[in-house]
Amino acid sequence: MRISVIGCGYLGAVHAAAMASIGHEVVGIDVDEQKISLLSAGEAPFFEPRLTDILAEGIASGRLMFTTEFAAAAGATVHFVGVGTPQIQGGYAADMTYVNAAIDALLPHLSEGDIVAGKSTVPVGTAASLEPRVSAVGATLVWNPEFLREGFAVQDTIDPDRLVAGVPAGREGGRAAQVLREVYHPSIAKGTPFIVTDYATAELVKVSANAFLATKISFINAMAEIAEVVGGDVTVLADALGYDVRIGRRFLGAGIGFGGGCLPKDIRAFSARAEELGRGESVAFLREVDEINMRRRQRAVELVVQGLGGSVYEKNVTVLGAAFKPYSDDIRDSPGLDVAVLLHGLGARVTVTDPQAIPNARRQHPQLTYVADRDEALTGADAVILVTEWDEYRRELSPEHASGLAAGRVIVDGRNGLDPAAWRAAGWTYLGMGRP
Ligand code: UGA
Repeated sequence: MRISVIGCGYLGAVHAAAMASIGHEVVGIDVDEQKISLLSAGEAPFFEPRLTDILAEGIASGRLMFTTEFAAAAGATVHFVGVGTPQIQGGYAADMTYVNAAIDALLPHLSEGDIVAGKSTVPVGTAASLEPRVSAVGATLVWNPEFLREGFAVQDTIDPDRLVAGVPAGREGGRAAQVLREVYHPSIAKGTPFIVTDYATAELVKVSANAFLATKISFINAMAEIAEVVGGDVTVLADALGYDVRIGRRFLGAGIGFGGGCLPKDIRAFSARAEELGRGESVAFLREVDEINMRRRQRAVELVVQGLGGSVYEKNVTVLGAAFKPYSDDIRDSPGLDVAVLLHGLGARVTVTDPQAIPNARRQHPQLTYVADRDEALTGADAVILVTEWDEYRRELSPEHASGLAAGRVIVDGRNGLDPAAWRAAGWTYLGMGRP
């Protein structure tokens, strides 16, 4: 099938390449010339495992191309819209500028019978408000939210847990759902559930999934706060809770909390939208979820201060990680980078290392020192804090090896990913989050 993908960021670039990899003929369109020239050369503008492979394959096969020309969308049967919906400046709502601009730019190139499939995470009610403009040119609007995780984006796009299609009522909706079934045929044939519903439900599935995940993380971080007072161990608690299949262990990782370009801004946009709908109280708990999350960053700073005997002033602190999570170079609302900035503000000499995210981190926080090599970053450290659980810090860094580099013996485990017994046995003061 001929497909256009509007927006070539984390979502769109992966979607375009993944659609080509399952056999479609795809054009990716973005206003950012630099991004388009990189993608056209088969290079990913950001770090995402497997992305360069499927980009190169798609381009070599002739089924995948990228352009800044919206006219290239003409002739495609399905037009996916995957532009960003960041938090607005000075508020909590989602900034819809890019979605509106994408629809405006796309409309003149649509033909009778085309399908426009929104993938961006949007406030509930967006599809209904855009629908008249799309149907006015004879096309059909569907909402087909995306659930990919950064770091696993290719896998999640090709083999998602589920596919959701919000369609208009009546025959048009039935036809649009059928076209999407054809687009995703390889995945559906493997058993992926395909849920057809109305616009509002489709939009809600997306925001409520992220709200639930954020709530799960903040729940366990709230338990960490209690464990800190009573001397309990939140990691053992999470293991024990996780054996209950109704609860499950995943996303019960306590630590410095969630960040990234999705969870934080999505729960805020959801709260803002619920307020607009007169149902603010229904998701009032998301404020608490957000607050618990933000408190953990402060707590991590306190642990470093405590480990260094009450002050970090003029102390060398090495921060292991900058990305908001491993297998990503994304630093949007990175909790770890926030912790680094807070420590810098307290007068510490902060050195940040990360296998992928240094260029992005440096651009946003030039006041910090960045060292690409892990061991060089550890050399002379008075305290070390793990904030992103990359394998090279969590699995591959032994306390004995670190002892040969660092000046001090304080390790703060912001992700509860290290073995406290091993670090203590090597003479380190180990401070975890919600662990004695
Ligand atoms: C999230 C959702 O997981 C995806 O399903 C969704 O499609 C995506 O947002 C989106 O809306 O586009 P992502 O932001 O890539 O995906 O990252 P997650 O894997 O959800 O992690 C989010 C944050 O939570 C990270 O900072 C991670 O370190 C933190 N986290 C995760 C914890 O603190 N504890 C955990 O147990 C799990």
